[in-house]
Amino acid sequence: MLESFFKNKKVIVTGHTGFKGSWLTAWLKILGAHVIGVALDPPTSPSHFEVAALGAEIKDIRLNILSGNNLIDLFVDVQPDFVFHLAAQSLVRVSYENPVDTWQTNVIGTVNILEALRNIRKQCSAVIVTSDKCYLNKEWVWGYKETDELGGLDPYSASKAAAEVAITSYIKSYFGVDGDSVRIASARAGNVIGGGDWARDRIIPDCVRAWSSKQVVELRNPLSTRPWQHVLEPLSGYLCLAMALSQSPRVNGEAFNFGPVAAEDKSVLDLVSGMASHWNAVQWKILTNANELHESGLLKLNCDKALHYLDWGVTMNFDETIKMTADWYQNYYENSQSIYTETTRQIDFYTEIARGKGMKWAQK
Ligand SMILES: NC(=O)c1ccc[n+]([C@@H]2O[C@H](COP(=O)([O-])OP(=O)(O)OC[C@H]3O[C@@H](n4cnc5c(N)ncnc54)[C@H](O)[C@@H]3O)[C@@H](O)[C@H]2O)c1
Repeated sequence: MLESFFKNKKVIVTGHTGFKGSWLTAWLKILGAHVIGVALDPPTSPSHFEVAALGAEIKDIRLNILSGNNLIDLFVDVQPDFVFHLAAQSLVRVSYENPVDTWQTNVIGTVNILEALRNIRKQCSAVIVTSDKCYLNKEWVWGYKETDELGGLDPYSASKAAAEVAITSYIKSYFGVDGDSVRIASARAGNVIGGGDWARDRIIPDCVRAWSSKQVVELRNPLSTRPWQHVLEPLSGYLCLAMALSQSPRVNGEAFNFGPVAAEDKSVLDLVSGMASHWNAVQWKILTNANELHESGLLKLNCDKALHYLDWGVTMNFDETIKMTADWYQNYYENSQSIYTETTRQIDFYTEIARGKGMKWAQK
């Protein structure tokens, strides 16, 4: 199903050099799309984008999304069929260190993408990625719905809430509800894991960095729970959302959550011990004075809307998610020559599992 939608389509992916963007790029290539990536250099070294040599597969454009006029020129020139906006300053801790950069990239950068979309004169479906952290966190034990209050205490979360406000304003002000040409929806996903992430202060990258050099990993908030999911889960949601937008105006202007079922909300400690079961002789220690910066404890998403409108649900359980993640890193640390093959193999495998579980998007 996905292939029939994306084959030979022109797709702009912003943030293609980052963790999620690189996986989306690889997936779109498998689907036969012409991918035009727009981003700064990869945010980490190593990076999935570089080790999988994805630059050779696509049109790789290095452009700051704060350069609004250049973005407009690019969108006018390409006239994309689909846009996935993932470029962002994506880390809570970095947002405390560089709040102005975070606000600029996440809010003005998103506004610049919306402005560029205003200049497209053909049908185009755009998925703008924000975060589950756009919800004002009330430490509820139940999941946040798309209509719940937006807000954030740390600069990252607040900037993502502000991006959501900007998206809604642009949709109401400039993009008609019928969505004759450009249709837009926002996507809010929780913490993702998967191979190829080496970002600072994310738990899986911290583990593999430490364990691959026989170090002990330090845990800051071991009991915090997060809606962990494999990176391919929200990406399948973004693809379904883009398909639905292009099929009809029904979901135009809507926001969608993409997260695991509540039973899969696990703690940092569950995640680390799960990863450890796939590695030999690894250790961790819990830092007792580490919670000096505010980070929300409990955060769950209600994803009924994605199920209802997009037929989307998660494919893998917690154990499958951890195994796929560990397999990727082990392949990297043991045999870094075949990363692109491993990435595409995992996408094919994930699609097969989804097909087996009856996911509509995965059917042939
Ligand atoms: N990784 C997660 O767990 C997670 C969870 C929820 C939401 N998100 C959101 O998903 C999106 C992708 O996240 P990620 O983990 O892949 O991020 P990442 O940090 O790995 O990648 C960020 C990408 O944005 C690009 N970028 C940053 N500033 C830019 C600028 N000014 N101009 C152009 N490009 C710029 C980088 O070059 C990179 O390609 C982000 O919007 C992030 O906030 C991520």
